[in-house]
Amino acid sequence: MKLKNKTAIITGSSQGIGRGIAERFAQEGANVVVNYIGNMEMANEVVQNAQNIGANAIAVQGDVSKVADIENLFANAISSFGQVDILINNAGVERHAPFWEVTEKDYDFVMNVNTKGTFFCAQAMAKHLIETKRRGKIVNISSVHEDLPFPNFTAYCVSKGGIKMLTRNLAVELGQYGINVNNIAPGAIETPINKNLLNNPNKLNYLLGQIPLKRLGQPEDVAGLAVFLSSDEADYVTGSTFFVDGGLTWFYEEQ
Ligand code: NAI
Ligand code: BGC
Repeated sequence: MKLKNKTAIITGSSQGIGRGIAERFAQEGANVVVNYIGNMEMANEVVQNAQNIGANAIAVQGDVSKVADIENLFANAISSFGQVDILINNAGVERHAPFWEVTEKDYDFVMNVNTKGTFFCAQAMAKHLIETKRRGKIVNISSVHEDLPFPNFTAYCVSKGGIKMLTRNLAVELGQYGINVNNIAPGAIETPINKNLLNNPNKLNYLLGQIPLKRLGQPEDVAGLAVFLSSDEADYVTGSTFFVDGGLTWFYEEQ
C-alpha cells in the first residue's frame, strides 16, 4: 500500500476521473475525502466502496469555486482525520462554443471552477501544511489542453494553461516547505464530461484515429499516476506536467 495513513482530499470525486482516483487511493490505504457539488448519492457510493475494502472515507459537499466552501472542506477533513497530506485538484468543467460566442457567464463558470477553484484549494492546502509544519503533495488534473489548442473550448484551454503556470509557480514558492506540486494532463478519458463525444460514433472514430494507442483512456489510467505523484516515491518530483494521453498530444501522420 503506497498511501497508508495519508489523508487525501479529491475534489469533484463522485464520478469520472476523481472517482477513479478516490477508489484507487482507498485501495492504497489512504483516508479519502470525497468532495462533490451535487450528487450526494454517488459520493456516498464512493465512500461505501472505500469502506467496503477497509479504508476510511467521508463525503463533503462543496463548490470549489467558493472559498468559504473550500475552507469548510478542509475543516471537515481535518476534524475527521486530523490532517491532510494530499490534495487532488480534479473538479473541472468545460463549455463548447466558438470563441466569438462565448458568454461572460460561461467564461466565468469555467474559469471559476477550473482555475480559481484549483488556486484556492491549493492555497488552503499550503496554509494547512505550513501551519502544521508538515510536507505534502498537490496534484492538479489539468489536461493536454494546458498545451494543446482545442478550438471551440478556448475558455477551457485558458483555464488549464493557467493551472500549468500555477503549478510551476507553486513548485518554486512552496518547495522550501517540502510541498510538491505537479500536474497530470489526461487526453481523452471515458467520463461524463465527454458524453457528447461518446454519443457520436463519427466524432469518436475520428478522435480514435488520432490516438496512437487506439482507445480512450479510463479513470484507472489516470489514477495510477496520481498514486505515484502523491506517494513518497515522488518526493523529488515537483513542478512538472505528466501526460496520460495514449500518445494523442504528439500525433502526426501523413498518407
Ligand atoms: P466529470 O464531469 O465526470 O467530472 C468532473 C467532476 O467535477 C464532477 O464530479 C463534477 O460534479 C465536479 N465539479 C464540477 N464543478 C464543481 C465545483 N464547482 N465544485 C466541486 N466539484 C465540481 O469529468 P472528468 O473527465 O472526470 O473530469 C475530471 C477532471 O479531469 C476535470 O478537471 C477535467 O477538466 C479533467 N480532464 C478530463 C479529461 C477527459 O477526457 N475526461 C481529459 C483531460 C482533463
Ligand atoms: C477534455 C475532453 C477532451 C480531451 C481530449 C479534455 O481536457 O475535457 O473533452 O476529449 O481533453 O481532447
